Amino acid sequence: MKSWTQNAVIYQIYPRSFKDSDNDGIGDIKGIIDKVDYLASLGIDAVWLSPIYKSPQLDYGYDVSDHREIDPIFGIMDDFKNLLKLLHEKGIKLIMDFIPNHTSTEHPWFIEARSNKTNPKRDWYIWADPAANNGPPNNWISAFGGPAWQLDEVTNQYYYHAFSPYQPDLNWRNEEVKKEMFNVMKFWLDLGVDGFRIDAVDYLFEAKDLKDEPKNPYYQPGFHQYRDQALSHIYTKGLSESIKMLGEMGKVLRAYQNKYMVTEAAEAKLSKLIEMYKIVDWRSYQPFNFSMIDLPWEAQSYREYIDCYDQAVGQNYVPCYVAGNHDKPRVVTRIGAREARNAAVILFTLRGNAFIYNGEEIGMRNRKLPKNLERDTYDEYSPGLGLGRNGERTPMQWDNTNQAGFSSFKPWLPICSDYKKVNVDEETKDPKSFLNLYKKLIKLKKENPALIDGDYIPMDSKAEKVFCYIRQSDKNKILVVINFGREKQKINLNIEGKLILNNFLDRKAGTKIDLKNLLLRGNEGMILEIF
Ligand code: NOJ
Ligand code: MG
Repeated sequence: MKSWTQNAVIYQIYPRSFKDSDNDGIGDIKGIIDKVDYLASLGIDAVWLSPIYKSPQLDYGYDVSDHREIDPIFGIMDDFKNLLKLLHEKGIKLIMDFIPNHTSTEHPWFIEARSNKTNPKRDWYIWADPAANNGPPNNWISAFGGPAWQLDEVTNQYYYHAFSPYQPDLNWRNEEVKKEMFNVMKFWLDLGVDGFRIDAVDYLFEAKDLKDEPKNPYYQPGFHQYRDQALSHIYTKGLSESIKMLGEMGKVLRAYQNKYMVTEAAEAKLSKLIEMYKIVDWRSYQPFNFSMIDLPWEAQSYREYIDCYDQAVGQNYVPCYVAGNHDKPRVVTRIGAREARNAAVILFTLRGNAFIYNGEEIGMRNRKLPKNLERDTYDEYSPGLGLGRNGERTPMQWDNTNQAGFSSFKPWLPICSDYKKVNVDEETKDPKSFLNLYKKLIKLKKENPALIDGDYIPMDSKAEKVFCYIRQSDKNKILVVINFGREKQKINLNIEGKLILNNFLDRKAGTKIDLKNLLLRGNEGMILEIF
């Protein structure tokens, strides 16, 4: 039997914003438990939980202070065990977030490490003496903007942080760090979790000699979105040692049965992704492919990238697609609501695994937040650039009651103003809703032979704004045609087919369609069975 990790739909839950059961305005594990039936109704294979470990929550859990404890705002270990059991009973796997690059400054390891220079934990982090002028040891910039070094006044040395100053980088060259972090993975695997989404893997190692990084000669503030793009990160990102470590992490998982690993390297190019696949060399592993987030919404860009990507991943490995996550503006906000329905059609009809960020399935959008609520690390270290990520983290919209059914208390972020219409309750009742589109697409992905494991075959649509492709197995053939344009497009392909569905869910399934003479409406996409 094929492993569940090859054609899976994986649903990301951002626990703070999913469902609040104890009415403190912040989502929690019991809240997720309340919604297990909803998760099952989507037809997903797995849930990926953004971090729920003990943490001061300065980067909302991506700053861990105890890897083996649940943060009290989310609940207790028994709640977690209960959630795992209930999901498993429904046949849903659970994937944990694992954050190997850094800990919180409040982690006991770091507290020990910073206490004095001879502490045995000192070498668990990365320290360097001040430069001659007493400033930071070199010019490295953190991902959030600002210097990547923070002075520790007690010992008068700087520590390195690829992200914020309260997220000191672990020293992966230290064997004890490696062993202990692998033990953390084993701890959760022994509890029965089904795998990990591994955070920021291209930052694991930094060049030892701490040389300045060269300036990026193309950098233009304003054109480049992030401040760290001012440097070429040849000493701090994507080092071959970091990629090799993924192979070792893969081995930890492979010692168990039926586990899965997906790794995050936000800006990795296709060649890097392929390097990662080859190093890990395991069919239950994927590096995230963020092309659907990064590419402009244009047929040509999609066609070119997906043709290359699908072929580069090939048959030895499994592709994956991500349309949104907690770090990037929501799909509807990025490309528009009609377009987002097409993005969903693409997401679920390509080869491999598909990731959904909670709320995308009902078409949620970003909420513009008042300055005091942005409170995101980006706003702290790159103020004024509008990079804050809380707009995509507003609470899940369950119904049209006060606070959208998320909480009966004031939520940590205000509910998006469209919640009276855009919510699970309303959309369950509306046969043409986003939610019903998602459910239909997921079902199709799981049941249609060509979508389960058919090849991806590029097709020339002969219309510039139309992206189209075939999925073909020895049992059947599926054609997907997507109009990226706002205007109608005439298709002229020598193919006949039967409609399975269109992205607006307003055409009758089973209708015969002659693609020699098909008029697609603006932003219309179709899935057809062809013969
Ligand atoms: C990537 C995570 O997705 C993001 O939310 C976090 O801020 C950084 N890694 C640092 O852990
Ligand atoms: Mg690092």
